[in-house]
Amino acid sequence: MLILGAEDVHQVLDGAEKDVLEAVRRAYVLHDQGRTALPHSVFLRFPDDRRNRIIGLPAYLGDETPVGGVKWVSSFPGNVAAGLRRASAAIIMNSMATGMPEAFVEGSVISARRTAASAALAAATLTARTPDTGVSLVGCGVINFEVLRFLRAALPDLAEVTLFDLDQDRARAFADRCGGQWPDLKVSSAGTADEALAAHRLVSLATTAATPYLTTEACRPGTLVLHLSLRDLTADSVLAAVNVVDDADHVCREATSLHLAEQRTGGRDFIQAPIGAVLADADAGRRAEDRVTVFSPFGLGVLDLAVADLVRRRAEALSLGTRLPGFLPAPD
Ligand SMILES: NC(=O)c1ccc[n+]([C@@H]2O[C@H](COP(=O)([O-])OP(=O)(O)OC[C@H]3O[C@@H](n4cnc5c(N)ncnc54)[C@H](O)[C@@H]3O)[C@@H](O)[C@H]2O)c1
Repeated sequence: MLILGAEDVHQVLDGAEKDVLEAVRRAYVLHDQGRTALPHSVFLRFPDDRRNRIIGLPAYLGDETPVGGVKWVSSFPGNVAAGLRRASAAIIMNSMATGMPEAFVEGSVISARRTAASAALAAATLTARTPDTGVSLVGCGVINFEVLRFLRAALPDLAEVTLFDLDQDRARAFADRCGGQWPDLKVSSAGTADEALAAHRLVSLATTAATPYLTTEACRPGTLVLHLSLRDLTADSVLAAVNVVDDADHVCREATSLHLAEQRTGGRDFIQAPIGAVLADADAGRRAEDRVTVFSPFGLGVLDLAVADLVRRRAEALSLGTRLPGFLPAPD
């Protein structure tokens, strides 16, 4: 068993944004071609506790060298007040020859970066007539920081960011981190979510809102909203938008805004395309200029496996991590 901790993952992934983008792109295309197995994520919730959850995402990615395994990711929003991260995760990778678990990998960094890469990929693919020079980030946490990192890698013209968070201390700390990491980036704060939505035609929502509270009325036509937290937008705003998803079966679950829109209309006709199909067909990759486009990725386990595979291969080449002999019982 190979054990890879957060430092090992960072060593491999820091500065490798283009490789992560490519791994995520390939996973989406393979998924669109039916070369994946992706059961629904399992949500473990607890009695008398609506806030916390642990999600299991089993996945198989039928690439040239197939990979299979599971991500087990917890969300405990109360951690943030205690100075801890909301999300933590582990990924188990299994041998596709024997089924045996072969690698145990820290999953939160992979999870955040694959999410951010999926958002940046959508932004770089669902292009506007004029390139995006700024982005508004609603929710100043771990995910939107990674989104900014990957947008910087994918959109060469991005020079400005506008921040909004209900918690002003979080917004300030985020702005400070941006200044330290990207001194050339112009950083400003919005007083309301609507002000942020109106500031740029590229918006990323990564909050911990559990029920919809936001419309897209403040967005300019031609705006692309990366709806990563999935439960911010009202069903009406979803229904008024052009909707691109990662997988309609996955995203229309668990009281996401799209699930509510489906319940309202009794169908999924409001979803225009999966991102895998958009990536496979260059002509499909245009943002509606007269409406708002919303990209809602449920977060597919195949993305975690694709990036974990990249991490594992590079870590093995660099002899990173800890080998634990005898983890599995000896053969009979
Ligand atoms: N779609 C995916 O693939 C995917 C993957 C990972 C995480 N996520 C989601 O992304 C979201 C953000 O994750 P994170 O790790 O950055 O969380 P985090 O706790 O680090 O940050 C969330 C931030 O949102 C702020 N916030 C909460 N409600 C808000 C509101 N109504 N308006 C503005 N700000 C608000 C909080 O103050 C906090 O600063 C979570 O909902 C998580 O489930 C989605």
